[in-house]
Amino acid sequence: MSTKQSPSTLPLNQIIEGDCREILKSIPKRSVDLIFADPPYNMQLPQPLFRPDNTSVDAVNDEWDKFQSFKEYDTFTRDWLSQCRECLKDNGSIWVIGSYHCIFRIGAIMQDLGFWIMNDVVWIKNNPMPNMNGTRFCNAHETMIWATRSEANAGYTFNYRSLKVGNEDLQMRSDWYMPICSGAERLTKNGSKLHSTQKPEALLHRIIMACSKPGDVVLDPFFGSGTTGAVAAKLSRNWIGIEKERDYIGYASTRISSITPHEKVDESLLGLNATPEIKIPFITLIENGLLKSGERLRLNNSDIFATIQEDGSLLSDSFQGSIHRTGAHLLGTPSCNGWVHWYYKDEASNSYQLIDILRKRMRAMMADSLHNTDQ
Ligand SMILES: C[S@@+](CC[C@H](N)C(=O)[O-])C[C@H]1O[C@@H](n2cnc3c(N)ncnc32)[C@H](O)[C@@H]1O
Repeated sequence: MSTKQSPSTLPLNQIIEGDCREILKSIPKRSVDLIFADPPYNMQLPQPLFRPDNTSVDAVNDEWDKFQSFKEYDTFTRDWLSQCRECLKDNGSIWVIGSYHCIFRIGAIMQDLGFWIMNDVVWIKNNPMPNMNGTRFCNAHETMIWATRSEANAGYTFNYRSLKVGNEDLQMRSDWYMPICSGAERLTKNGSKLHSTQKPEALLHRIIMACSKPGDVVLDPFFGSGTTGAVAAKLSRNWIGIEKERDYIGYASTRISSITPHEKVDESLLGLNATPEIKIPFITLIENGLLKSGERLRLNNSDIFATIQEDGSLLSDSFQGSIHRTGAHLLGTPSCNGWVHWYYKDEASNSYQLIDILRKRMRAMMADSLHNTDQ
């Protein structure tokens, strides 16, 4: 499946080894329907990165992610994006994914080159890697830019209706909740992750479903472990992969060669069924006025109380922490699900009620607002 030659015609369903900035020059102009690009992030991580307990973090510090400066990264980005734009059909689409390290630079360059941005979509990770040192917010999302080749994009593919049907008749929104790639889907080599940034198939499933048709050509200039090819093959699209690391190519080829195209769309891969109930952090109750800072919560049926702080922590005589940690501390247990141990005073009934009731109320309010915004 791998070839080193520059193809003169479309090298369908092949992985081409090399630097995409060169290889893309050999792809015929205006021949590709959809591009998915997951370029280097330019994370510029200090080497190595440690957790507070001194264990090292499994981060993206691969050689392919290293650039000397923003200038070098911008030049690289401009080069591959310009080549992609040459390959793309007039009504074709490109999706580029990135984190805060790179996506703003990429977006500006895309606009400078003439791409026409249709949406930015956030992939919200149900199971993100925590911020180990507690110095920033947990970085729980990546941003994807969907753009057409130019503003003159008549006839671009957007499968609005199937997206809506798959979303239980609600218009598909630009916030996508999906877990990061793990478990059996994650490719391994000698027991470790093969690729530091393997994307979940569910993400590619939704993109390819949204912006292409069966038989279309989907190109990925940063093929990595071959997620784009694997999903394109399942969905009966043609694919072209470009990757410069030979090791990944071998694994990606094996992965794709074992795929049988779906008979029909497997909606479960859309990640819809995997979406858990809307997550309501405790602070949401305070932000929305269901509880107030200064209000006291009661632990079970006891005479132990703690006071809600502005940041959503609970302060008891001897301890301050989350509803869970404070509960565990006061109960003397290793852990505690605070939602089912803390009670608030319900003024209407003059009785103590479980705070989980407020969480359910909040969830219902959010679900209502989702339905109300459907068009
Ligand atoms: C962020 S990863 C993509 C991961 C991929 N989406 C997946 O699901 O496995 C970027 C990939 O691009 C490759 N790469 C980096 N620079 C490249 C270049 N100039 N040409 C081709 N591939 C490159 C890296 O080796 C890496 O596998």
